[in-house]
Amino acid sequence: YTIASGQVKAHIEPTMYGIFFEDINLAADGGVYAELVKNRSFEFDSHLAGWQQQQKAGGKGGIEVVDRTNERPENAHTIKIDVSDNAGYFGLSNEGFRGMGIKKGETYSFSVTARKPVANAVSLLVELHSAKGLVIGTAIITPTSTDWKKYNVKFVATATEDKASLYVWLKGKGAVELDMISLFPQHTWKNRPAGLRADLVQKLADMKPGFLRFPGGCIVEGRDLANRYQWKKSIGDIDKRENLINRWNMEFKHRPAPDYYQTFGLGFMEYFMTAEDIGATPLPILNCGMACQYNTGQLVPLDQLDPYVQDALDLIEFANGGPDTKWGKLRADLGHPKPFNLKVLGVGNEQWGEQYIARWKIFTKAIKDKYPYVKIVSSVGPSPNGEEFTRLDKFFRAEHADILDEHYYQAPKWFLDNATRYDNYDRKGPKIFAGEYAAQSVAIASPDNKNNWDCALAEAAFMTGLERNADVVSMASYAPLFAHVDGWQWTPDLIWFDNLRSYGTPNYYVQQLFSLNKGTDVVPLLKDGEMVTGQDGCYATASIDKSTKELIIKFVNSGATAQPVVFKIDGVSAGKKTAVVTTLRSADKAAVNSFKAPKLVSPVASTLLVNGKTVKVTVEPYTFKVIRLKLN
Ligand code: AHR
Repeated sequence: YTIASGQVKAHIEPTMYGIFFEDINLAADGGVYAELVKNRSFEFDSHLAGWQQQQKAGGKGGIEVVDRTNERPENAHTIKIDVSDNAGYFGLSNEGFRGMGIKKGETYSFSVTARKPVANAVSLLVELHSAKGLVIGTAIITPTSTDWKKYNVKFVATATEDKASLYVWLKGKGAVELDMISLFPQHTWKNRPAGLRADLVQKLADMKPGFLRFPGGCIVEGRDLANRYQWKKSIGDIDKRENLINRWNMEFKHRPAPDYYQTFGLGFMEYFMTAEDIGATPLPILNCGMACQYNTGQLVPLDQLDPYVQDALDLIEFANGGPDTKWGKLRADLGHPKPFNLKVLGVGNEQWGEQYIARWKIFTKAIKDKYPYVKIVSSVGPSPNGEEFTRLDKFFRAEHADILDEHYYQAPKWFLDNATRYDNYDRKGPKIFAGEYAAQSVAIASPDNKNNWDCALAEAAFMTGLERNADVVSMASYAPLFAHVDGWQWTPDLIWFDNLRSYGTPNYYVQQLFSLNKGTDVVPLLKDGEMVTGQDGCYATASIDKSTKELIIKFVNSGATAQPVVFKIDGVSAGKKTAVVTTLRSADKAAVNSFKAPKLVSPVASTLLVNGKTVKVTVEPYTFKVIRLKLN
């Protein structure tokens, strides 16, 4: 193998490897959004979903859902608890999202909005119960007002439990009305109150992602237009963010439950801030006037598209505008005076057809007229090589579109066979965003798909092709990102979690290794004068990092035989050096990570003494290796 480290072939965009986030598989509510109470504001269609009336020791009372639609249409329901006698305990419990994850010694923050219909002396006894019914945390709140008021109390949990539940008892005789019954761990990502699960965001930060795509996915579109994602409803006061049934609600493959809603506690402000926290370029995707084409496919008539287009323009102003603009001022008022530096925006998720083209034209004109610097991500449909893909691809190329969003959920073999996919793409055409991809071990979104090493290795092989073509491919992200082990719709997924823990799949480590070792520029790596695209089952790419002055070689051996490899390198200084080698491998292609063995397939670091311009290494069967070597 030869490497010409002085011959730059292509610049690698800092955005190259990023993250696709969608609230599927309980990724947001029940996942990264650390709220532990399900249906905290009683806005699910079944207003008591997640709640149960409780009584013990002779406690007596009643529970009533109160409708205040006229007063608060966006948060129209509250609950009234009325206790008729001082004896015993009466109240309700909340089951959380497949239980609540509670940690011993952790401080929890309970809050509630309450009002007493008439002055009385009732108080709320708050308890955390283990699955066995033991009390593992307790606090008391005494509502003082007949007007709505927020109350907050902190307490420390005395045990660790992954299936805890929350009890709220009304003590004393009388009634109280409650809303926004909420429980958060105090320790969240950056310790923001009512924030995000720190362990899950940390996994994202550890990838050093180039971009964060949000909020999806099909969720952007909604099954119908009424249920589309509307960013303006996802910001501001938490109790004013109108809840919406999740587009993925009916599709749980594991422990089905019709209880998947979006509370938007993780809304656009939080997405932008998280992107900023983890050093990722924000990449919002907006509804383009089309509901999900796999479902109703509802369309907004072209002459009624204005509010949708305005949402896009306002979003750019919200992200980038100064304090003198309406939406820029709102961002500052919400605590972020500094602009978010939005440079790229998706128009539609996974759309196709003439209907998409017509809407895309209107959006694109309006956005480019006002914000010519914003790059637009355009969809080329769901399938990488179908007729519709070809038609859309041709259309967008003729239109000089900025960035095309290609999605591929395919068999591992497809990924191996398509490592050359971009080798012959037009270098002067639109950039490519490989916006959603993952090797499927059984079939697309089959519940039996596994995040196994076979799939991850095929993705690594394919990604050498993405990187080799970094002059065409400017962004790439695996999808979906998160899945709760007790409530998911789609496999495979990059990161699995339960109420307390999380682990990265082999696919996660592939993504991470590419991202941490992308370098700044691609240099030629050839075997017998040819690019390495599957000869003897091997795939490879090389880059240099101009800031650290290193050469980075990525090599995938997808075969069952070890490969003795010799790299002859031009453009590095001679003499003895130590290369840093990271190896990701398993002899078993079926290997998966799990809570029992979270790092079964994970990177192992080593060093290699190399002699000047020659690097000799044996690449084991079924192995992905990254080799870093100082140029001087
Ligand atoms: O990643 C899961 C889904 O796959 C996304 O929501 C959609 O864009 C694609 O079809």
